Amino acid sequence: MDYLKLIKEPIEQDLLDFIDLFNHALTHEDGLLSQALSHIRQRGGKRMRPILILLMAKNYGTISSVTQHAAVGLELLHTASLVHDDVVDESSERRGQASVNATYDNKVAVLVGDYILSTALLHVSKTGHQRIVEYLAELGRTLAAGEILQLTNIQNQEIAEEVYYQIIKNKTAALFEACASIGALSAGASNEDVKLAAQFGQDLGIMFQIRDDIFDYYDSKEIGKPTGNDMAEGKLTLPVIYALNSHPIDSMMTLARKVKAGTVNPDEIACLVEFTKEQGGIEYAEKKMQEFQSKCQRYIDENVKNDDIKSALTAYVDYVIKRKK
Ligand code: IPE
Ligand code: IPE
Ligand code: MG
Ligand code: MG
Repeated sequence: MDYLKLIKEPIEQDLLDFIDLFNHALTHEDGLLSQALSHIRQRGGKRMRPILILLMAKNYGTISSVTQHAAVGLELLHTASLVHDDVVDESSERRGQASVNATYDNKVAVLVGDYILSTALLHVSKTGHQRIVEYLAELGRTLAAGEILQLTNIQNQEIAEEVYYQIIKNKTAALFEACASIGALSAGASNEDVKLAAQFGQDLGIMFQIRDDIFDYYDSKEIGKPTGNDMAEGKLTLPVIYALNSHPIDSMMTLARKVKAGTVNPDEIACLVEFTKEQGGIEYAEKKMQEFQSKCQRYIDENVKNDDIKSALTAYVDYVIKRKK
């Protein structure tokens, strides 16, 4: 099934308008900044977040310039966070091309990320919508706090699912939550509807990050960013957390502690990955995604009246789980 076609159907022209506005925002006249921005523009991402904003706005009313400026602001914030994330994670690849830090250096990547972040603020302020501006400012804080929590969690000896969810709610799901609620807000949805939309966005975001974390256990060129990186960076994600807690074998616990200490080698990572797969860690994470999927489906059934938007949002949820990149 062509998920993307179904997803984009109700918002095709709006998405093209969004991309125009976004590319324009990500442009500078000359110099290194202009080069770096054009490098980023060259390979767009999947646009999952703006698509969500547009679909939610359409569900609760109409897509307006407020919706579009908010969508540009949020996608810019996402873009800036990826540029900074690749510095933090010392990652050399993004969207199938060299990351900004790999193409230039860390200094350039930090500054370009800052520039994009401020451009995001500028766009959101163009909505003239006080609550949307507050939402984005709060979101920037949450994302950074989530990344910092992830960083400090490396020193934490406890290996718990609860902490994992706390991290991914902050660093990823908060953005999806913001997209869903800002989309609804921009179309004049009631406070009650905005709350329901926010919960839907959070559930989607959690699923999105679990899927992303599963990628890391497999090699694939399609993904467009390095795999096998999480453990090398000290991060234990849901599949291995489950495997370790359900089968706390001493030798594997020792390897997990080495992951956290940053002293693990590639063979040992391969060993932990193998163990995770043997103990059903991947299936467990997939089962968790299905639980969130059911919650999302319930929201759609109860809150989406238009058939095209219903199909699009249902396909969106499926795509988040089944995507290959
Ligand atoms: C990457 O998000 C960051 C995560 C939350 C895992 P996406 O996979 O949506 O990135 P792009 O925008 O499509 O590249
Ligand atoms: C994703 O972080 C969330 C961000 C705030 C960028 P990760 O480090 O887990 O994501 P990828 O795998 O590099 O996209
Ligand atoms: Mg990261
Ligand atoms: Mg990363």
